[in-house]
Amino acid sequence: MVSSHTMRTAVVGPGAIGTVVAALLHEAGTPVLVAGRSPRPDLRLDTERGAIVVPGPVLTDPARSPGAADVVFLAVKATQTAATAAWLSALCGPATVVCVLQNGVEQVESVQPLVAGSDVVPAIVWSPAERRPDGSVRLRGEPRFTVPRVGGAERVGRVLEATACEFTIADDFTTLAWRKLLQNAAAGLMALTGRRAGMFRRDDVADLALAYLRECLAVARACRAALPDDEPDRVLQRFRGFPDDMGTSILADREAGRPLEWDVRNAVIRRRGREHGIPTPVSDVLVPLLAAASDGPG
Ligand SMILES: NC(=O)c1ccc[n+]([C@@H]2O[C@H](COP(=O)([O-])OP(=O)(O)OC[C@H]3O[C@@H](n4cnc5c(N)ncnc54)[C@H](OP(=O)(O)O)[C@@H]3O)[C@@H](O)[C@H]2O)c1
Repeated sequence: MVSSHTMRTAVVGPGAIGTVVAALLHEAGTPVLVAGRSPRPDLRLDTERGAIVVPGPVLTDPARSPGAADVVFLAVKATQTAATAAWLSALCGPATVVCVLQNGVEQVESVQPLVAGSDVVPAIVWSPAERRPDGSVRLRGEPRFTVPRVGGAERVGRVLEATACEFTIADDFTTLAWRKLLQNAAAGLMALTGRRAGMFRRDDVADLALAYLRECLAVARACRAALPDDEPDRVLQRFRGFPDDMGTSILADREAGRPLEWDVRNAVIRRRGREHGIPTPVSDVLVPLLAAASDGPG
């Protein structure tokens, strides 16, 4: 069996989550190639245990890739996936496993066409990480990823097993992924209002969030997610329990004028609803507003 230390491992997209993975692999003694868009001398992750610095530089030219890797972690925003095509083509071959660290439920559909022949393993990222203006990253909580029981999952686990990352292979990944998606979808309301979690304590916002989450639940169940009747209430209560000033990545992107992941976090509900003949009146209002907030024009 190949040890994790001799596996050729790469991270594409050294932002918040990419830096977490690269730093944990480096800490565990696994060499990792870091492929990015912006040149950087190194990566720095601050954890509750201290700082981990991954020696660079971050490579930015796919033509200088050393060739196919055994495992590639793709950690760009979903809006940036298409732009990584040259990196994926340089780093992926038929024996490569690509682990996609992105929100949503459509990672395989979006990445598989860029890596024909490689196994694509979607991962749910449970631990929030924040990128600071200087590029360093702060990890909040313990790093935790979940993947489905599919081809390639065990190899991802083998690469991560020596790291401080908690890694699980789930039999019912669909339910977990949709559970996370409901939370991500509701967080889209914060990007529309420009407000933080405190806004969910308003009764009118809570009513809207509940109507939206019930719509998401109907679509999730049609997509085989085994979520309970009270899932919408639980998600709302979680938002209401957060500190008033707690933000979310889609709000941070909106405040910074960056493109929003509205398609994979919100439009997917409407898309899947249409496929299953489920009306999505709340999405029909929210999605065009999020799309316009993200992409304009105007
Ligand atoms: N952050 C979290 O706490 C968290 C939690 C759960 C899930 N997620 C999900 O994880 C995914 C990644 O999020 P993130 O927060 O880590 O994003 P991020 O901090 O914006 O990082 C994205 C990274 O990808 C790089 N990049 C962009 N285009 C590229 C290209 N063509 N080639 C190579 N690198 C490229 C960016 O480069 P630049 O440095 O030039 O911008 C940046 O370093 C998203 O789907 C997000 O929703 C995030």
